[in-house]
Amino acid sequence: QGDYLKRYHLKKGYFLLMYTVAISNYTFPPTFKFAAATASYQIEGAWNRDGKGANIWDYLTHTNSSMIKNRSNGDVACDSYHKYKEDVRLLKHLGVQAYRFSISWSRILPTGYTNRINKPGVQYYKDLIGELRANGIEPMVTLYHWDLPQPLQEIGGWPNEALADIFAEYARTAFDLFGDDVKRWITFNEPRQICYEGYGIGEKAPAISCSGIAEYQCAHTLIKAHAKAYHLYQDKFKQSQGGKVGIVVDTDWYEPASNSSKDREAADRTIQFRWGWYVNPLVHGDYPKVMINRIAQRSAKEGFSRSRLPAFSAEEIKYIKGSYDFLGLNQYASSLVKYREEAEIGEPSYIKDVGTTIYRDPLWEKGASDWLYVVPWGLGKVLKWIKKNYNNPEIIITENGYSDHDGTLNDDKRIKYIRDYLSSALSAIYEDGVKLSGYTVWSLMDNFEWYSGYTLTSGINTRAFPDDFMFGTATASYQVEGAWNEDGKG
Ligand code: NOJ
Repeated sequence: QGDYLKRYHLKKGYFLLMYTVAISNYTFPPTFKFAAATASYQIEGAWNRDGKGANIWDYLTHTNSSMIKNRSNGDVACDSYHKYKEDVRLLKHLGVQAYRFSISWSRILPTGYTNRINKPGVQYYKDLIGELRANGIEPMVTLYHWDLPQPLQEIGGWPNEALADIFAEYARTAFDLFGDDVKRWITFNEPRQICYEGYGIGEKAPAISCSGIAEYQCAHTLIKAHAKAYHLYQDKFKQSQGGKVGIVVDTDWYEPASNSSKDREAADRTIQFRWGWYVNPLVHGDYPKVMINRIAQRSAKEGFSRSRLPAFSAEEIKYIKGSYDFLGLNQYASSLVKYREEAEIGEPSYIKDVGTTIYRDPLWEKGASDWLYVVPWGLGKVLKWIKKNYNNPEIIITENGYSDHDGTLNDDKRIKYIRDYLSSALSAIYEDGVKLSGYTVWSLMDNFEWYSGYTLTSGINTRAFPDDFMFGTATASYQVEGAWNEDGKG
């Protein structure tokens, strides 16, 4: 096995060399896919080029720029709209088998609706996908990575259930246009951030603060929109295109602060409100029981005539249940959780609904993002927990990575982070039987990090070596050949 490990990985270049150092007992299965990720608004730039429509991030950064560090925006970003060939070259250098990127909805449908298709926008993604395939890299495409066409926000955004059908029509357009060459589709990236941060606390576009109501309505629409897109693919595209459709959900690992049953219950409740909120409906048909019960009780106390958490009908439950081929997991960090009796004044309503105390071990190493604590064993725990509670699904790690402040080319901390998380993933595969089929690093390159602007850098640095630079390994005859006297050797 040692032999296989070295030979196999040496073929794959720098990225894979990094972890062979650490991992001696196992190697990733040959079908396992390594990938790097980006997202349209964070890298493309060309915000108003060639007929692209405005989206909620264009709008937010242009009208409320003080929300973003240094008032920066994605108008130019990494200019991937013009430099996609360079991006593919970086991917090739990195040695990955797949590239996770997202489609900017308003680049191909400037109004959000299917009444007008923007040909240059379509051509951009065709060119990118063509370039990837020419280089043997598989596209893994996210349909929605946070950049809602502004006209759809004007009708209320995701809390408006009409968006479920509108999204499904956008998905149909994308399957139709690109589906012959794309075999992995992701409907939504991190719905919790879309809903809680976008409509609950207003930290991200469209920056609406209506916690306790709007994030739950947003989620309700997203889940329906996801299920519609999934079924549409099954009914109309699966047979001819043969791809898979999934969703990407993010979570920390939530470790109970003590072994008391109250702390354990609190830790479980916290992950149910984060991961279970979206994945429970897809796998089991409905929101986690603990969410349904707590929000109903709290709503009644607050004088609402019905729960602030919308309910699915029996028919919807049937339709949503099972609507995934794989689950994408974005996993970076972990937290400790303590039970508590009372909510704190001034907390967003959603946090009161969860009703637990979350904190970090001061001994954990920290990345530059305020939530990024380096806890490699947390990844293994999340993977095992998903396997156990969600019918042992196919899982892809769709994001994991390390942020620093200055985009330094000294990658030691990032390399260690990735190596240790990969080790944890390997154990989950071999010791716990988790069906993990891929690992995606965030990110291919430094890019626009939402409200942190360009002050947080997560790019895996691969710019060092030119195309014609040659890597090799050396041996010498007497040291490796053996067969000292075979076949007539003197
Ligand atoms: C999650 C998001 O999907 C991505 O857009 C973001 O840049 C990274 N995590 C890092 O914060």
